[in-house]
Amino acid sequence: MDDLRSELNLMYNSYCAFYALAFGCTSIHRGYYTDLAEGVAFRDATDRLTRYIVDQADLRADDHLLDVGCGAGNSDFLIAREKCCRVTGVDLGKGQILSARMAVEAAALSHRLQFMVADAEHLPFPDDSFDAVLLFESMCHMKDKRGALSEAKRCLRAGGSLIIAETVELAVPENQAWRARFEEVLPLTCFPAAGQLAGLCSDVGLDVKGAIDLTRETSLTYARGLAEALTRRAEVEQFLGEEACNEIYDELPELVEVLNAEYLGYEVVIGAKPAIQRAGAAPKTIL
Ligand SMILES: C[S@@+](CC[C@H](N)C(=O)[O-])C[C@H]1O[C@@H](n2cnc3c(N)ncnc32)[C@H](O)[C@@H]1O
Repeated sequence: MDDLRSELNLMYNSYCAFYALAFGCTSIHRGYYTDLAEGVAFRDATDRLTRYIVDQADLRADDHLLDVGCGAGNSDFLIAREKCCRVTGVDLGKGQILSARMAVEAAALSHRLQFMVADAEHLPFPDDSFDAVLLFESMCHMKDKRGALSEAKRCLRAGGSLIIAETVELAVPENQAWRARFEEVLPLTCFPAAGQLAGLCSDVGLDVKGAIDLTRETSLTYARGLAEALTRRAEVEQFLGEEACNEIYDELPELVEVLNAEYLGYEVVIGAKPAIQRAGAAPKTIL
């Protein structure tokens, strides 16, 4: 593992317990808030975003979805249960994969769900082996985004869907001061520019079926998450101890401020692997 990968592994392993306790779930992605005034719980909002995103893939029962950068697999349990499809989740995080595997046993879902440690840039699967591939807020950590997309495409069957959901940097010229703070607070994160993911999909030979701007619907995530985390501080302190708890809670306001910046948006990009064209087959002409 190189430095970035080991640091990501360490970071997510050490934040896993905090996430579960402070937010009531192990999903590490934004929430979907349809009515910006409603008081939906963070956990429900994150599940709603999962449903919204997965609905873009038109999954059928028994389809096989690959979730690249699945974390502890919270979304994959929801997808396997609600869509009755098979899901394989991969992530660099050993702690997250271990907890996902244990949850599979406990839920008796091993016929539909499996989790393994793997790197997005070197997926341990044959060509054309999945009906759909999901990259749910994992591309932000990948330096070689094009390489990861190429690898995802390789594992996708012809005609299968690829869905990416990611925070994006909006094109605002005067954001240098914010960027310096961002790099200090989130050194392992590199959000793509708005529109860049669709361009990269085309570059690797995927057909881009659509791109949806969910900036508004997901914009409450960090404020709501922080509010919820504050109500659960005693529980977190009891589990992690005072020192570790203070360290995390001291950092949270700045993290939320940086992530709440007007410079950031949210995109869902839907791609498809082109269907195979037989050599020499002439296109049909309809008169
Ligand atoms: C923000 S979390 C999102 C987790 C999950 N998709 C979710 O929605 O809850 C990003 C995840 O991407 C994983 N990740 C980052 N780079 C990766 C890579 N090269 N290969 C596999 N997983 C990666 C991290 O370990 C982390 O679990």
